[in-house]
Amino acid sequence: MTTPRKLAAGNWKMNGLEAQLAEVDTLMATHTTPVCDILLCPPATLIDRMARRIGDGKIAVGGQDCHAAPSGAHTGDVSAAMLADAGATHVILGHSERRADHGESDDAVRDKVAAAWEAGLVPVVCVGETLEQREGGSTLAVVGGQLQGSIPDGATAATLVVAYEPVWAIGTGRVPTTEQIAEVHDFLRDRLSQRMGGEGNGVSLLYGGSVKPSNAAEIFAVENVNGALVGGASLKAGDFSGIIDALE
Ligand code: G3P
Repeated sequence: MTTPRKLAAGNWKMNGLEAQLAEVDTLMATHTTPVCDILLCPPATLIDRMARRIGDGKIAVGGQDCHAAPSGAHTGDVSAAMLADAGATHVILGHSERRADHGESDDAVRDKVAAAWEAGLVPVVCVGETLEQREGGSTLAVVGGQLQGSIPDGATAATLVVAYEPVWAIGTGRVPTTEQIAEVHDFLRDRLSQRMGGEGNGVSLLYGGSVKPSNAAEIFAVENVNGALVGGASLKAGDFSGIIDALE
């Protein structure tokens, strides 16, 4: 049976100029032989510089989105092959901020996942309910639909990471209870196993939404939580290190 890899992933969102890369130096110096996987997803402008700076270091680099087409007349967009060419190995897809700000549907995310695979990238596919949906009792229906609709057939444990990010927990300091996290993660694991067989048991399931060094250990103790997708707390090496330590 495939065991999910532990992964601490940082999503810098639209934050970071050249000077921000100093945080990466600190992280590398602190985690020379990490026992979990570490991934940083800076804005597209920093991918190449970050990847070069890391060199053979133990931190992977990812994009935050890609276009579904390999190239073409898409002003302002970046293809999966371009991310890979810049040094990325992963790409976050279907983040709720992309779904909300850019109207990305499950179908659009699914096409991007296929494009990521084509370019040899591992997609980190995000799902999550709004507060209204949670209060309306449709959390599992929402994340189940997103999971089904956003991932094409053919995924394997090595080519897929899924992140559960309740929209109401992102950047708010509000974190679901461990029971709420467990309910969704168990559900996602079941769905992946139904769809992918044994491979589904090996997919890393990340929790994202206001993860900090102070709450990480409690979240990581939940079964079927294999790591975190961290926003704000990934911008400071000290904070992100605390989360990595909790995962290790
Ligand atoms: O993708 C990570 C994210 O949406 C969570 O953000 O700032 O709540 O950790 P934050």
